[in-house]
Amino acid sequence: MAKINDNYLKLPGSYLFSTVAKKSAAYSEAHPDKNVIKMSIGDVTKPLAPAVIEAMHKAVDEMANAETFRGYGPEQGYDFLREKIAEFDYKARGIDIAVDEIFVSDGAKSDCGNIGDIFSVDNKVAICDPVYPVYMDTNAMAGRAGDYVDGKWNNIYYMPCLEENGFLPQLPKEKVDIIYLCFPNNPLGVAATREQLKPWVDYAKENGAVILYDSAYEAFITNPNVPHSIYEVEGAKEVAIEFRSFSKTAGFTGTRCAYTVIPHELKLDGVELNSLWNRRHTTKFNGVPYIIQRAAEAVYTPEGQAQTKEAIAYYLENARIIREGLTEAGFTVYGGENAPYIWAKTPNGMGSWEFFDKLLEEANVVTTPGEGFGPSGEGYVRLTAFSTKENTIEAMRRIKELVK
Ligand code: MLT
Repeated sequence: MAKINDNYLKLPGSYLFSTVAKKSAAYSEAHPDKNVIKMSIGDVTKPLAPAVIEAMHKAVDEMANAETFRGYGPEQGYDFLREKIAEFDYKARGIDIAVDEIFVSDGAKSDCGNIGDIFSVDNKVAICDPVYPVYMDTNAMAGRAGDYVDGKWNNIYYMPCLEENGFLPQLPKEKVDIIYLCFPNNPLGVAATREQLKPWVDYAKENGAVILYDSAYEAFITNPNVPHSIYEVEGAKEVAIEFRSFSKTAGFTGTRCAYTVIPHELKLDGVELNSLWNRRHTTKFNGVPYIIQRAAEAVYTPEGQAQTKEAIAYYLENARIIREGLTEAGFTVYGGENAPYIWAKTPNGMGSWEFFDKLLEEANVVTTPGEGFGPSGEGYVRLTAFSTKENTIEAMRRIKELVK
């Protein structure tokens, strides 16, 4: 008889954002008169930039002509896009990344989830707590997390990110092989400086570990001491894989385009991880659609740059409104200065799901309960700055009213 991958049976409940969406949909269905404001999943609300739309239309027209039509493209992405990425996202910051070190994909979520394919199941994995649930869940699916006992995976090295440490993880006290880091951080909204990242690169070098660096929110960085790429830290090319996305940078959450960087210097036992990922990518993926890659390329035009920066500024302004609004309402809040996420302490030690329910039912505002991101998230909720400005202002008004 065929056997299932029973690691899936060990997974607790459903994917966090599906649970939140289900709860909010059930509430809306039962209360159709209520205007529910979603500040839960980090999904953008502003339309794609005009430069992006224009490039997309042009690419659609090309697909209508036999001379310009494109079928299968290179699995790793078209050079026109990879060259722009290398130039604008790396060379402009003094980082030398070759085109063949860049793999264009349909999302950082997919890549963060799939990267485990090239690592042995025997690796010891270190993951922040709280964390973007994809890292934890995909390691559990692969059988690398052990068993889920009392709310924790017993083979994962948890790195608690707590208030007393400015919500930054501490270096592992035991030897680990793979380390997931995400800065600016989802869900905490905090960011690490170059100096704070250097010990991680040193640790990885000393221990033969690999850092999986999720930089999906780099466009929101305002502090010049926060690096946009892990490769701004000396030596990182020998130890780190970086994940980037157009989702939050340019509003591509529904359009799907991202990329992963694996430098040739990164080797384990003399084997380049770049070549393993290339093997995996070419076998399991057939490339992002031409139309979408042309749209992503347009992000790097002068118009595209200006228009996407404007959208980021809009969301950062929402983040400021949330920070100030919640602070005025008496909450303790973190993040939101270099990231689109605000991490707010629940009042009077209330549980995060309990506070989530209260905000949903009494203020009609949907947040994400901190506990959903891991045990150390208990006692917090996450709010996103991706709503419209009007809804952000209205949500703050309702929350202030609620706690008055
Ligand atoms: C989030 O809300 O954490 C993100 O939108 C999820 C994602 O990017 O997949």
